[in-house]
Amino acid sequence: MSRTGVTRARFLAGIGAGGVAAMGGGFALGRASADEGGPGDVVVFNGEHQAGITTPQQDHLVLAAFDLSPRRRDALELLLTAWTAAASRLTQGLPADRDEDSLLAPPSDTGEAGGLRPARLTLTFGFGPGLFGADLGLADRRPAPLVDLPPFDGEDLEPARSGGDLCVQACSDDPQVAFHAVRNLIRIARGAANIRWIQQGFLRASTASDSATPRNLMGFRDGTNNLATSNDGLMRDHVWAASDDGAPWMAGGSYLVARRIRILIESWDRTQLGEQEQLIGRHKVSGAPLGATTEFEPVAHDRLEPTAHVRLASHHAAGRERQRLLRRGYNYADGIDPATGQLDAGLFFLAYQRDPRRQFIPLQRRLASQDGLNEYLLHTASAIFACPPGIEPGGTIGETLLA
Ligand code: HEM
Repeated sequence: MSRTGVTRARFLAGIGAGGVAAMGGGFALGRASADEGGPGDVVVFNGEHQAGITTPQQDHLVLAAFDLSPRRRDALELLLTAWTAAASRLTQGLPADRDEDSLLAPPSDTGEAGGLRPARLTLTFGFGPGLFGADLGLADRRPAPLVDLPPFDGEDLEPARSGGDLCVQACSDDPQVAFHAVRNLIRIARGAANIRWIQQGFLRASTASDSATPRNLMGFRDGTNNLATSNDGLMRDHVWAASDDGAPWMAGGSYLVARRIRILIESWDRTQLGEQEQLIGRHKVSGAPLGATTEFEPVAHDRLEPTAHVRLASHHAAGRERQRLLRRGYNYADGIDPATGQLDAGLFFLAYQRDPRRQFIPLQRRLASQDGLNEYLLHTASAIFACPPGIEPGGTIGETLLA
């Protein structure tokens, strides 16, 4: 141990011997190791696919988008190497960096997750269209499905909350753990990429007392008829990119579309219950299709209003089977809109898919033009990312792109 440094072993021993105060300040806090967490506390970072896509949803989200700066290929490669190393450690509940800390330098981990379990932390990385510019020599590697999303009816997008060259989706059952991970990835990115926007989200999934489908801020169960992640065939058909989908390097990856959808909560809360249920096409309390009694009964679409959300969104109509996608959205609440004094809250819609050209885009076109819910919704931000396949231990996120 250096004169000013404190090794992790010594630090952890110090906690046992008399607590943090006895050790003095100025070093990163150690975190509970994976072994100390409960079963299921650690989601494995490595694998054929990135974690955080078919992983059962955690309760909290922090999604950060970055712009590369400087726009240099070598800087991008270094960044992805450093992010991979940090992500592999963070998801195990370890500090972001293994360096010993010195009292004369900033700590190698920001410290606020000290003693916290990873709580199923996943970190999922994605590449936005901006990464595929000629300046980085990647123009010919842009996957065809990574299109610039077209404009949709009724949206009012804020550029500062949209787009981005890179993204990291952090999900954990502990909001402080998710934030800590993103904060450290932002810190590590310094000199290579700047944060462009960040979105936090929440839902009540894993810990809900009835362990049921979580509810969105309209008060309805959201996810009932989502794609079943346990069904490998459905995941292969609708979520995982294949090598002949337009970019062989994306095989085993997935395309993420993010939409920040504000719910005009004040108007919604003044709408009659019967009207709310007609607009969604399901009962509010039970989540059952209108006219049925339990949540997972089949939906009788012809008994719903033509403008009902689930009728329009359903794949049960001619030509829609190929539009199915995996929704993984979170509720958000970002305080008050200063212009109106109304709540800025809604759904941060996230969807993973094999090709947005056949999935999100036609589905959203239909919803944007016909959905009765539109009166209560406003899409305020939008982004699309190609999330590369997972990696084996020792690999680097994006290695198939940069090879
Ligand atoms: C704030 C906006 C939205 C709200 C409040 C909302 C709410 C809901 C609710 C309550 C359900 C019924 C439960 C379920 O099956 O999950 C549902 C279903 C669904 N939603 Fe949304 N949704 C929103 C936006 C979107 C968007 C933007 C899309 C896609 C572009 C979408 C696609 C779907 C799909 C595919 C279903 C399943 C329909 C079925 O097969 O029965 N939703 N949504």
